[in-house]
Amino acid sequence: MYRVPLSRPDDIEGWRASARAAALAAVAPDDIVWTVEGETDDLFGGVAGDPLPGAVTPPFSVPRRFLDLAESVVLHRDPQRFGLLYAMLLRLRDHPEAIDDEADPLRRRLDLLAKEVRRDIHKMRAFVRFREVDGAYVAWFEPAHHIVRANAGFFVRRFATMRWSILTPDLSIHWDGEALREGLGATRADAPEGDPVEDLWKGYYASIFNPARLKTGTMLKEMPRRYWANMPETALIPELIAGARARETRMVDRIVPREVDAGNMAKSLEALREEARHCTRCGLYKCATQTVFGEGPANADIMVVGEQPGDQEDLAGRPFIGPAGQVFDRAMAAAGIDRSRVYVTNAVKHFKFEPRGKRRIHSKPNAGEISACRWWIDQERALVTPKRTIMLGTTAIHSLMGKSLTLSSQRGRELILPDGGAARATIHPSFLLRMPDKSRAEEEFAMFVADLKAGVES
Ligand code: URA
Repeated sequence: MYRVPLSRPDDIEGWRASARAAALAAVAPDDIVWTVEGETDDLFGGVAGDPLPGAVTPPFSVPRRFLDLAESVVLHRDPQRFGLLYAMLLRLRDHPEAIDDEADPLRRRLDLLAKEVRRDIHKMRAFVRFREVDGAYVAWFEPAHHIVRANAGFFVRRFATMRWSILTPDLSIHWDGEALREGLGATRADAPEGDPVEDLWKGYYASIFNPARLKTGTMLKEMPRRYWANMPETALIPELIAGARARETRMVDRIVPREVDAGNMAKSLEALREEARHCTRCGLYKCATQTVFGEGPANADIMVVGEQPGDQEDLAGRPFIGPAGQVFDRAMAAAGIDRSRVYVTNAVKHFKFEPRGKRRIHSKPNAGEISACRWWIDQERALVTPKRTIMLGTTAIHSLMGKSLTLSSQRGRELILPDGGAARATIHPSFLLRMPDKSRAEEEFAMFVADLKAGVES
């Protein structure tokens, strides 16, 4: 029996190094006990097991997708996660194609763990609430899994200019505007109560609370009760629900038709859309007609992300309705995808152009504009939580992957976004509009359709 100690519950590097060594030494999964400092009941009583033996098999590689999966799974609280991943690693060594076998119980179990982690990551992003203390902001949050370190970059990007701390039971993170520091876990009592930020949230929440659309089941699912305690606006929920039911009954009595409920998230999305109408996060709002926000069901399984609105989208205020939108619609129809069930949005929400005579010529958004607009797309994603995302072109890739990457390096494979979502990348439909050679354009169109199809298949 070999005992492999890992330094932290989310120690992906430690696991990778030891798993590689163990696999090369052909150690069976049942012969390893993975222990984590402070987490595992150590049957060895802290005594070191035998060191792993030397390599007996040649080096091998595993699909990138497995490594992406492992990065999520490691963050789960399931004590068996390291062993399960190791068992999968050994299987992939001999059968790399097993990564595509969705019927395989081990693969399914790992997928489920990864999904739960992704969900927890989304929840933290959507439900962390800061309270102001002496010019700094402090939030208390209880994640279900070991996601805090992995999620820190998101909060650094989003609240780059604030000084803040997020306190959680296992780990605290502190940002001073320049550097991120880690500290010990905290208790709820360490997080201060009551301040102007709370009032601000309460006002915001009460104003977006639409009683006629209230569905407590959906609300509980999207915002489990254990998060409520940390969110100032949720103090209003019992009162609002009680009032909502009475108001709803009065409405029904007056034979007002009940609104069809697309869920609590739809309301938040509407509020976000409203907020985005006034966006001045970069200079693009100065010349554009309006913010063009995403469109589609708040509970869509699929999100499609384009670059930025074009001339016609800018005038109409809706994404993908101009020439590129028509190519997109044709390709979606050819792929058998119903656009009305997809959430369609853009990485950048304002039209960037250069005037040429009477025309406005599209100009590509730069890194600063993409980064400023991440504020909106991150929140759209946190609310819609799509199962899969299709990125159209390099601006969408840059926005969602967090860095500039070529399309050829990302196209044609399963991607895991930094926010944990599953994604694929393909061309932007305007590329087809620019192709002079008809027959090549047709070939490219067929490939685009194939990419869209692959993009919706999980
Ligand atoms: N191109 C995009 O990327 N988005 C649109 O909405 C229109 C054209």
